[in-house]
Amino acid sequence: MAESFQAPKGTRDILPPESGRWQALVAVFAGVVGRAGYGLIQSPLFEDIGVFQRLGEGTEVVRKEMYDFHDKGNRHLALRPEGTAPVVRAFNQHRPTVPWKVWYLTPCFRYEEPQAGRFRQHHQVGLEAIGSPDPDLDVEVIALQHDFYRALGLNHLSLRLNSMGNPHDRRAYAQKLAAWLDRRRDHLDEADRVNAADHPLRVLDSKRERTRVAVADAPLITDCLSEGAATHFERVQAGLDALGIAYRIDPRLVRGLDYYTHSTWEFAAGNLASAQNAVGGGGRYDGLAEALGGKPTPGVGFGAGIERILMAADAENALLGDAGGLDVFVVDVTGGDAGRDLTFELRRNGISADRAFDNRSMKAQMKVADRSGARLALLVGDDELASGSVTVRDLRSGGHQTALTRGDAVAGVAERLAGNESMRTESTEDLA
Ligand code: HAM
Repeated sequence: MAESFQAPKGTRDILPPESGRWQALVAVFAGVVGRAGYGLIQSPLFEDIGVFQRLGEGTEVVRKEMYDFHDKGNRHLALRPEGTAPVVRAFNQHRPTVPWKVWYLTPCFRYEEPQAGRFRQHHQVGLEAIGSPDPDLDVEVIALQHDFYRALGLNHLSLRLNSMGNPHDRRAYAQKLAAWLDRRRDHLDEADRVNAADHPLRVLDSKRERTRVAVADAPLITDCLSEGAATHFERVQAGLDALGIAYRIDPRLVRGLDYYTHSTWEFAAGNLASAQNAVGGGGRYDGLAEALGGKPTPGVGFGAGIERILMAADAENALLGDAGGLDVFVVDVTGGDAGRDLTFELRRNGISADRAFDNRSMKAQMKVADRSGARLALLVGDDELASGSVTVRDLRSGGHQTALTRGDAVAGVAERLAGNESMRTESTEDLA
């Protein structure tokens, strides 16, 4: 036998019926953000590696986890590790009118050590709003993310919010923190010392106990905000208060990506382990368009991990999906012509229908019909063929049967699905 293959380490196949929950999740997302004026963006899954390198060398995703390669034309490319940089690259390229509001559904590729809820290919729904520095736009973006989770039925989430200030504040704070860390170098966990000078904000976020104790009274960004940044942050908080969105200010919230200015936030699921409880995060990135070679243009957005959201939904018994979306299963034991034609007649009239193949026995086909989760079975046997009729069997209420003429089949099925029992019947019997 030839060698067989498995999905690569850290990746998964998403199969039905689980994929049905994905579709439901994406439909909810598209509805929530579509009603707010966001349009879908589709851009290439790979970009010039520079697009991602400009996210900053302090970003682990960029430094250590990139899936990069040279193509046959020797271009250095990378699979997208996240969704924001490609959107900003597209913004710079096309110069659309602002504010430009777009949403996406995308796989993201990060060479991480796989574990529960952490994959090398994960998937995000997200949005970006580019072109306005208005703090009310931060509020809109956070509120849409909040409303999306609510619409899914997730109720046990918490929101942490921080401000990184303007780029000057952020730089000044990083220097101050680096100097402070330098004086306490010996108290830090050894693994964190390497970061203390070049990436001091990372140290603040360390999960290592020794470091956590050492940085307990480190200076906080929220104490270093310029007047403009403080006013921006207050306006964001007032907006969330007005919209009834609960949050906790966490001056130690440091997100993994380095481009953030002003608002940054993360939603966490209360019922997942802390290593993978982030179900989405976002923030403002007022310097990114410029870093990618465009005109200085502010932006704000979020990304939310689909796998994580589904894990949180499992823990809350939310978004269980519709068991059996199928309306009709067609069973034909007369050779297949009637089954083929009826199935398409139903589908072309907006009724979901499936059928059995391979000309199997009535018993075998009924087994498949029962498993399909369909509400009704349409049966065509020799008697029906001879009399120009079809038999409708209700698969969910003990097999209640009615007969319809062949010409009335689609209309009769539609009425039955709509719950209208007044349909014309020629004979009625209850099966035991
Ligand atoms: P991020 O926090 O790196 O932000 O990722 C967003 C979300 O993707 C996370 O909160 C988590 O739910 C999910 N996620 C990230 N890595 C993995 C992984 N390895 N396995 C499973 N799920 C994962 C961003 O990507 C930014 N682009 C968000 C953003 C948009 N900021 C502004 N606009």
